[in-house]
Amino acid sequence: MSSKTSLLVGATFALATTIALASGSAQDGATSTSNDGVYTKAQADRAKAQYTKMCADCHPFNVAAKKKPDDVLLGDEPFVKAWDGRTLAEMLTTIVMTMPNDGSGEVSDAEGVDLVAYILQQNGYPAGSRPLTRAGASGVVLKPRK
Ligand code: HEC
Repeated sequence: MSSKTSLLVGATFALATTIALASGSAQDGATSTSNDGVYTKAQADRAKAQYTKMCADCHPFNVAAKKKPDDVLLGDEPFVKAWDGRTLAEMLTTIVMTMPNDGSGEVSDAEGVDLVAYILQQNGYPAGSRPLTRAGASGVVLKPRK
């Protein structure tokens, strides 16, 4: 083998390894992003009343709507930055396990999924034809809006 060929073989092997690693992480991780129409409009609309009642007091969607200093934004740049690359399953778990954090209520898995859809909708992500599910949420990562 000439040294040129072995260099090529080496490079091809490195590339194949990179692809294998990347697809491996896609298997146990995300396969789509928040830009891919991963929830339905009906789902998001359904969560609106609950969000308004249970969450909106502490969670405005943009900096201008912030009323109290300790309000936590669920929209705008700081939110997208904080969640860039993290899965919707993680967001769902945060909501179901810890929200509302003042003990004023409880959120079921099904409600949590709809609430995640509503948060995506309020952040301007496109709706699609298939609803977000609890199982599907681990395959979707949040990304800045396209
Ligand atoms: C009494 C205020 C309060 C209420 C009500 C509340 N939250 Fe929160 N939420 C917080 C605070 C404070 C944090 C950040 C610190 C923490 O995790 O406790 C937070 C964190 C979050 C996060 C993670 C934000 C991030 O960028 O890490 C999400 C998502 C969230 N809340 C969703 C909800 C939803 C959905 C509801 C309604 C079901 C809700 N929260 C109700 C106060 C509240």
